Amino acid sequence: MDMNGRLGAIVDKRIGELLELRRTLHQHPELAFEEHETAKAVSGFLTKLNIPHKTGIGKTGVVAVLEGSKPGRTVGIRADMDGLPIHEETGLPFASKIAGKMHACGHDAHTVIALGVAATLSEMRDVLPGRIKFIFQPAEETLMGALAMMKDGLLDEAPKMDVLLGYHNWPPLKAGTVGYHPENVMASADAFDVTIKGRGGHAAHPHLAVDALAAAAYFVTQVQTVVSREIAPLSPAVITIGEMHAGTARNVVAGSAELKASVRTQEAGLSEKIEAAVRRLLDGIEKGMRVEASLKWQKVAPVLRNDKAVLERVLNVARDTLGAENVVNLNQASMGSEDFAWLAEKVPTAHLRIGSKIDGLDTAIHRSNYDCHDLTIPTGVKVVARAALDLAKG
Ligand code: NI
Repeated sequence: MDMNGRLGAIVDKRIGELLELRRTLHQHPELAFEEHETAKAVSGFLTKLNIPHKTGIGKTGVVAVLEGSKPGRTVGIRADMDGLPIHEETGLPFASKIAGKMHACGHDAHTVIALGVAATLSEMRDVLPGRIKFIFQPAEETLMGALAMMKDGLLDEAPKMDVLLGYHNWPPLKAGTVGYHPENVMASADAFDVTIKGRGGHAAHPHLAVDALAAAAYFVTQVQTVVSREIAPLSPAVITIGEMHAGTARNVVAGSAELKASVRTQEAGLSEKIEAAVRRLLDGIEKGMRVEASLKWQKVAPVLRNDKAVLERVLNVARDTLGAENVVNLNQASMGSEDFAWLAEKVPTAHLRIGSKIDGLDTAIHRSNYDCHDLTIPTGVKVVARAALDLAKG
């Protein structure tokens, strides 16, 4: 039997168990850093396969290592585990049993795909070179989980990864297919907070006060010119001020204002340029409007980029597994962000989208009616397992 035939037979044998596990996880979604029961289910599954693993990495993360039978490289496979604070409205028989929490991004399927790969490759150890390091990551939705696992030694502890695979289900893409972005996959994310301090006073005597609300409003207007006037039109960037809080009453001059914003970019060095521009605008507002402004800037995730050579190898095995017509170039990167990018920044990476479209269901990730096609799991297991077998060769 060829590799596809052997792998397909194992996946066919396991598929009932994997779909059932996905439904169990779907009924019990857990939010960021609360994935205790999910981690227990992962650990239980790995224990049944006799795959050594550690729990509690990055609070609720799990790391497992499956040793191959001959020399080779260490291939990382990362799955995220957390759900979202969304009330499920799918009406599915396996809908969330926890009010206000839902696997609305398909991380239940992601976890099961990695477990399916572990189960499949544990039956193929005779042809597996090197080893596979499985990363079950908490808290992707808050973009905090990858860093927490790195803090607990994910990248430094042996075996160190030579190459890394990541994936996300994708509702716009037909089930049974995979998609890819040739270079950038997702944008960098930065978050910034601005506090503007003036002096409160009576609305009728503005000259005795310093109006922080008026200054904040000018800042919101001025910051619009950063992307439109300072950044090359073909370089994608977004600055969104999502929150502004100021004032307590109509007859009081606001003494302070708070703003919260998100920044997304695709190009190296661009978020630093935006940070410098925001500082410069705030300096001007301080001088021009007599306020004091402070800025807190946080890098949330870098750009998620594919390593060209790794991606090429993954696409070749994906074409061989699914047929070339089922491997789709998605071209443009998304302006969304992934904390997987922190790992991809350190280890050469390929990231795939796995088709999860359900015909007739108008949905998207992070919606209360989200569901993913059952075919997503075997498709993901086959492609990721084949890619891991190939990349482990070196
Ligand atoms: Ni997600």
